[in-house]
Amino acid sequence: MTKFTALTLLLLAMLGCTGKPDAFKDVPAGERAWWKEAVIYQVYPRSFKDSNGDGVGDLKGIIEKLDYIKSLGVTAVWLNPIYSSPNDDNGYDVSDYRNIMSDFGTMADFDQLLQGMHQRGIKLIMDVVVNHSSDEHPWFVQSRSSRDNPYRDYYHWWPAEKGKPNYRYSLFDVNGDAWKYDSTTNAYYLHYFSQKQPDLNWENPKVRQEVYDIMKFWADKGVDGFRLDAFQFAAKDTTFPEFPVGYEKNFMPYYAMQGNLHSYLKEMNDAVFSHYDVMSVAEGAGNSFQDAHDLVDADRHELNMAYAFEGVDIAKPDGYSLVHLKAVFSRWDSAFAEKGWLSIFLSNHDQARLVSRYGNDSPPFRSPSAKMLNTFLLSMRGTPYCYYGDELGMTNSGFKSISQYKDISAINGYQKVLNEGGDTLQYLKNMAFGSRDNGRTPMQWDAKTQAGFTSGIPWLPVPANYVSINVAAEEQDPASVLNHFKKMVQLRKTNPVLVYGQYQLLAPENPDIYAYTRTLGAQKVLVLLNFSAKNLPLELPELKSIKETWINNYPEASVSDGTISLQPYQAVIFNL
Ligand code: GLC
Repeated sequence: MTKFTALTLLLLAMLGCTGKPDAFKDVPAGERAWWKEAVIYQVYPRSFKDSNGDGVGDLKGIIEKLDYIKSLGVTAVWLNPIYSSPNDDNGYDVSDYRNIMSDFGTMADFDQLLQGMHQRGIKLIMDVVVNHSSDEHPWFVQSRSSRDNPYRDYYHWWPAEKGKPNYRYSLFDVNGDAWKYDSTTNAYYLHYFSQKQPDLNWENPKVRQEVYDIMKFWADKGVDGFRLDAFQFAAKDTTFPEFPVGYEKNFMPYYAMQGNLHSYLKEMNDAVFSHYDVMSVAEGAGNSFQDAHDLVDADRHELNMAYAFEGVDIAKPDGYSLVHLKAVFSRWDSAFAEKGWLSIFLSNHDQARLVSRYGNDSPPFRSPSAKMLNTFLLSMRGTPYCYYGDELGMTNSGFKSISQYKDISAINGYQKVLNEGGDTLQYLKNMAFGSRDNGRTPMQWDAKTQAGFTSGIPWLPVPANYVSINVAAEEQDPASVLNHFKKMVQLRKTNPVLVYGQYQLLAPENPDIYAYTRTLGAQKVLVLLNFSAKNLPLELPELKSIKETWINNYPEASVSDGTISLQPYQAVIFNL
């Protein structure tokens, strides 16, 4: 029996962590890109750190915490929208794209934040929300004022004398109706999201030029990348043909990647991306691998990355099948094995907490399962996107009543169920598991009042477990989720096999264990992840050629004669 003691593990992990400064030198230069080697940390500004006691996070708060972000080892930050907004959808309804939301601070704060990040070697990715604007944006105020206003064609209008337009489904509307009648000009306008988020008309070249100018404004300030919000919906068939009855149950084929979307992206690339060293990533990857490839194929000059929802949509309130999850991630990997690059994520501001959805947030298993999930995200091929708080293993908040929710999608969704005479109790149960507000609670900094997030009343309550799950406590504990996360980030940053290495799924039918190898040249590593609360043996020929342990979320790994005995939610990476 081979026993790896805690000390040996630590030393071996440190060796891996130390690496060589030029560890990536053998990777062909043409294959390398900073955004492929990046570890992206997503900050939801409303919930990260409040510097002025108004209960809302702000830019000065993020500035205060830059050393913390640096300590994680991450190399880039994606900030959710920070532009002026009436906050119908927490900043995803922009009323001025060249200004900072007053809740968050000023442009001077922004400049200081960007400078502070760059001084620490951290890049900044901005969210660009241009499928729609706020209805309070001056463009829309103009557009709705009269039919012959020069801004009329910035949005989609349907004159009421032509009758009601063909049904379009809205994701956030209480009636699910994306057409809103506006009496000022006796016409309907289109909003795929809330009534206060009218869709911009991308078929209008003036709109496109406005957007490119806005992006250049931020790129000229020195930002390092853009995340295009809901962009796969931007292009539309403006004749608004009828869609089949019930299409809203699976609306993606009707909404995503329509019309001239690809040519708009090429135009954007030509106007913006090609002039700066910026990365670009789209939310949504279309309806097929072909769509996803077309978005990111370097020869097409559109985007660097897209992120697909298939993986993140798997977890459901009554559980999920690991075999399915493995199949999805493996399918995406193999489709991108030769060309293109993936985004790896299982949580963000539109999802509930990582450990509560994909792991096990009950006290005995929260810590090992959170570490296991972070090991997964940081050992896959593709750029990992890590959501704030997941590095601590923050959990869902356990809201019980609709009055506790702040998210427009939860609140309007509840109203819709009520209007339709549906089961509101079931709805609340689903929300407790999957609501976006679960993933938006304040960052848990310490065990003081309001988790050190604010000196006031936080805009969303802090989960009660902040007393033990917080940065201050986890920094002190060598075995914390936080310290495991940091170790894992270092391992990735110093070992190209974890970034560029070929991925090979092992034991695909095993219902509880996710096992794979990553191989780059002569280097091969084995990743073993127990997704269950059971002690489980696993036999693999690879286990006979272990050279060292790179990381382990338990003090020991018990390997004997090609069989490992994995503990609940154990995650271990062996160098073979
Ligand atoms: C994207 C954002 C989400 C927002 C929606 C409308 O899906 O990630 O938070 O509500 O677009 O902008």
